[in-house]
Amino acid sequence: MTARTIGDVLINGVATDPGTASVSVFDVGFQRGYGCFEAMRSYEGTIFRLDGHLDRLERSADHLRIELLDHFTLRAWCETAAGGGDGVVRVYVTGGTDASALGTNNATIVYLESLPDLPPSIRLDLLDAPWHSDGKVSELTGAKTLSYGPNLAATIEAKSKGFDDAALLGGGEVVLEGPTFSLAWVKDGMLFTPSLDSQILESITREATLEAADRIGVDTTVGRFQREDLLGADEVFIMSTVREVMPVTAVADVSFEPGPVTSRLRNAFDDLVRSEIL
Ligand SMILES: Cc1ncc(COP(=O)(O)O)c(C=O)c1O
Repeated sequence: MTARTIGDVLINGVATDPGTASVSVFDVGFQRGYGCFEAMRSYEGTIFRLDGHLDRLERSADHLRIELLDHFTLRAWCETAAGGGDGVVRVYVTGGTDASALGTNNATIVYLESLPDLPPSIRLDLLDAPWHSDGKVSELTGAKTLSYGPNLAATIEAKSKGFDDAALLGGGEVVLEGPTFSLAWVKDGMLFTPSLDSQILESITREATLEAADRIGVDTTVGRFQREDLLGADEVFIMSTVREVMPVTAVADVSFEPGPVTSRLRNAFDDLVRSEIL
């Protein structure tokens, strides 16, 4: 599937036609989901918080004990892939083909993908996520690994029920994140979002949105929240590299209007991005 790829795919730095780009069927990245990845936003070739993404990739590789190329090389490949374009720069690092030395002799794949058509808002099902660590620390804590099967299954389950995606709960009660995005809501003018100690992904967009909130004087509470907190919100929104700040118009059977605070936060996020990429 090459339809959304813009330009060549860099495989270990070698520019490869997207139609023939491939990794080995013996790579544990493919066989077991053992590997890590990043998705970053390129705005006319400038990647938002590139170093932050590469730092997170380094943490992921470190947790998985996967050999990673140096920051400088990865940076150069990401900038080459971005190539002046708008889109999502994807980086995948596989676990390699050597079963006796996992994490070595692996593949690093970098390419630019065009942005999907994004709807103005999103409707979320509320699903329990028993696989989510929800605060328990393991070797994978903080890692953005290739093992996204449970996340994808949650999205597919939500879609099968007529929603766009899912909001994930720990133990059926604690609000965590979405399968590929962070969650936040507004109550009485204040922004609420789950804290990182629930082992949600350390989202670059969430961090930038909290900074944007601070810039425009929206107070923030970061903590551990129950489903009732989310369902009782005035406004709900999601945050991710691909979707940036996007209003939520339903969580399970509760409806929300895209609200004024979300709109202000979205504008403040855009301003912050513009101020950094110019
Ligand atoms: C589970 C999860 N949470 C949150 C996010 C948002 O992270 P970021 O803002 O860095 O894209 C992602 C992104 O893919 C994710 O997979």
